[in-house]
Amino acid sequence: MAESDESIAHQMRKLRRLRVQRHARSLVSTLAKRFNFDDKIRGIELGVEEGRTAEAMLACFPRLRLTAVDCWTCGTHTTDWTQEQQDNNLVSAMLRIRQYRSRVRLLMQTTDDAVHQLRRGRYDFVFLDANHSKEGVAADLKNYSRLLRKGGFICGHDYGGVGDGTGRFGVKPAVDEFCEQNKITNFYRDPGSLIYWFRLDNKVVP
Ligand SMILES: C[S@@+](CC[C@H](N)C(=O)[O-])C[C@H]1O[C@@H](n2cnc3c(N)ncnc32)[C@H](O)[C@@H]1O
Repeated sequence: MAESDESIAHQMRKLRRLRVQRHARSLVSTLAKRFNFDDKIRGIELGVEEGRTAEAMLACFPRLRLTAVDCWTCGTHTTDWTQEQQDNNLVSAMLRIRQYRSRVRLLMQTTDDAVHQLRRGRYDFVFLDANHSKEGVAADLKNYSRLLRKGGFICGHDYGGVGDGTGRFGVKPAVDEFCEQNKITNFYRDPGSLIYWFRLDNKVVP
């Protein structure tokens, strides 16, 4: 474990003050098991929406450099937002992460397009939470796993949730297929928050 239980508890109190959602708290504690809060980390968030999870990560990891990707357009697979709501989400995200702007690169693009602007082998983690269709998740896993440095890890949201159960989402089937193809054995998930994570090189990371 990279951080002590005491410092994780301190960050969790900070997150309660920010009123972040359960999955963001779970993500931060997952990151805290692999990185120290003052480590230099490069991460990517796919799907930013109102910037709540981005804010949580940036608040807890003061040396995190985050590339945040969202197209903020209506008609994406996962959300029912109108364009007006998406515009509002973008404004909310910008306001939330404004104070961290020196550490954030915001890419207003689809994940398929944004990947071409990012260097391979550079990132410590990628958090997948954009297009939740099976095809979308499969493409993001394939494209963004190439950007990770050795030992970097993949995490994401909505694995095995209601959306997967009804067939509206395809997160679980896409992730399971990717893990099977890449012989991933160190797969973990937090059923309460629907966060999952694994390392590509199969090193143990509970
Ligand atoms: C579930 S929300 C993200 C929530 C955010 N990660 C959080 O924890 O607060 C999904 C977001 O992904 C974006 N999105 C969906 N498909 C996308 C795509 N193909 N490329 C970029 N963004 C996409 C939507 O605009 C929406 O804002």
